[in-house]
Amino acid sequence: MLTVTGDPQKGAPHFDKDCASCHTSAFGRFLSDSPEITQLEGPYIFSQLKAFKSGQRNFTEETKSHRKMIDRIKQYSDEELADIVAYIKANAHTL
Ligand code: HEC
Repeated sequence: MLTVTGDPQKGAPHFDKDCASCHTSAFGRFLSDSPEITQLEGPYIFSQLKAFKSGQRNFTEETKSHRKMIDRIKQYSDEELADIVAYIKANAHTL
């Protein structure tokens, strides 16, 4: 599986705080209508995060979850987003 250059250890706390609730458990995905992301290729995840952050990618449906995710990723630099992706790919089997 392809990943990106980043520091998984730095990405871990960011992922736990700002991504896990919507994307990791089946229950969280159901409640927030979020897709599974661990199976996606790292470079794709990274490019989508940057596209959401810059407004190039919009959500298919404007809901509360969507706005929340965008607000959360906007706090991160591209380097921090790469750390998060590196963490997702390093731990894809356990998330
Ligand atoms: C409040 C819930 C929520 C949070 C928090 C959240 N997301 Fe999402 N995410 C979603 C939803 C809902 C979608 C579906 C967007 C759409 O309709 O296009 C999505 C889409 C995505 C996609 C696109 C998947 C694809 O197939 O193209 C990626 C990648 C992603 N999220 C990563 C993250 C990362 C990394 C974080 C943490 C920084 C995060 N998300 C935080 C709800 C959330």
